[in-house]
Amino acid sequence: MFSSGGKERQIESYHVPVMLEKVMHYLSPESGQVFVDATVGGGGHLRMLLDAVAPKGMVIGLDKDRDAIKETASKLGNNGLRLFRRDFGEVEQVLGRLGIEGVNGILADLGISSHQVDTPRRGFSFNLDGPLDMRMDRESEGPTAADLVANLPAHDLARIFREFGEEPGAVRAARAIVKARRVKPILTTKDLALLLASVLHRPGGTRHPATRCFQALRIAVNHELESLQTFLDSLPRVLLPGGTAVVISYHSLEDRMVKTAFNRLEGKCTCPPGLPECVCGARRIGNILTKKVVRPDPEEVTRNRRSRSARLRAFKRAVRDRRN
Ligand SMILES: C[S@@+](CC[C@H](N)C(=O)[O-])C[C@H]1O[C@@H](n2cnc3c(N)ncnc32)[C@H](O)[C@@H]1O
Repeated sequence: MFSSGGKERQIESYHVPVMLEKVMHYLSPESGQVFVDATVGGGGHLRMLLDAVAPKGMVIGLDKDRDAIKETASKLGNNGLRLFRRDFGEVEQVLGRLGIEGVNGILADLGISSHQVDTPRRGFSFNLDGPLDMRMDRESEGPTAADLVANLPAHDLARIFREFGEEPGAVRAARAIVKARRVKPILTTKDLALLLASVLHRPGGTRHPATRCFQALRIAVNHELESLQTFLDSLPRVLLPGGTAVVISYHSLEDRMVKTAFNRLEGKCTCPPGLPECVCGARRIGNILTKKVVRPDPEEVTRNRRSRSARLRAFKRAVRDRRN
């Protein structure tokens, strides 16, 4: 369904939406309803939502990246669609500004789009040479990956590589960066990729040795875990009774955060053992729809290799439930 027609081809070339049918199955949008797509990207998921809620419904789309908003606005127009260049951690504020009390469903398809990875000047890819930027929101004043690599002490770099990248050679990589930057600034993706490859190369490894460190820097530059936590915390206030949240993550840390948040919304305490009372805020307001994490089918992975690490979880707010 996505390979015919001019508009569909444009959407595919920007980013191929992952687990499209499964997303639609869990969100089950109906005509007249209101949805949020918290990560517009190339608008693939959003387009399906928009078609399903037409003609009277609405989709509110958010993305930090101006390219994604411009691309999707030019492809899908503004019929039933409101687009905002905002962090999804601000979804409550965006809805408040629109006077919308809650939505029937919300999708967050985390990470970065193919367009972002494949555009060298964005600096996300270790395979394409470009400035070491990695900001999703280039209007932000925040530091780029080059700034972190130039200024952070070795122990902070090592912590980022270990915590966000689960890189076993985190200390080695951090020390190599600190040593190299004394001689010459590390300004490009190629500079960093070559340096990391020289210290992290594992014989027989199937991935580029810089994969985990690049991912970790991206997460740090964009404060991805903080935004995700704020977004997950806002779900009880954003979802209408009967509304569904679907989150697709590509990283085990993110998936763990989603799993924990959904468990709490199902009333399961996630406090560490031994605490005298529950402090995690668990309160049952609905049910997890995905008892086991949902992965793409092998055919999808063959068609779209970038879907291979995707993990989908869905939560449905109970129909009869007093909202906060
Ligand atoms: C995997 S892509 C989404 C693809 C989209 N579902 C599609 O069908 O084309 C992830 C998108 O989320 C955006 N993004 C990541 N973190 C964000 C955040 N905290 N707030 C808003 N957008 C974010 C990225 O800029 C990127 O465009």
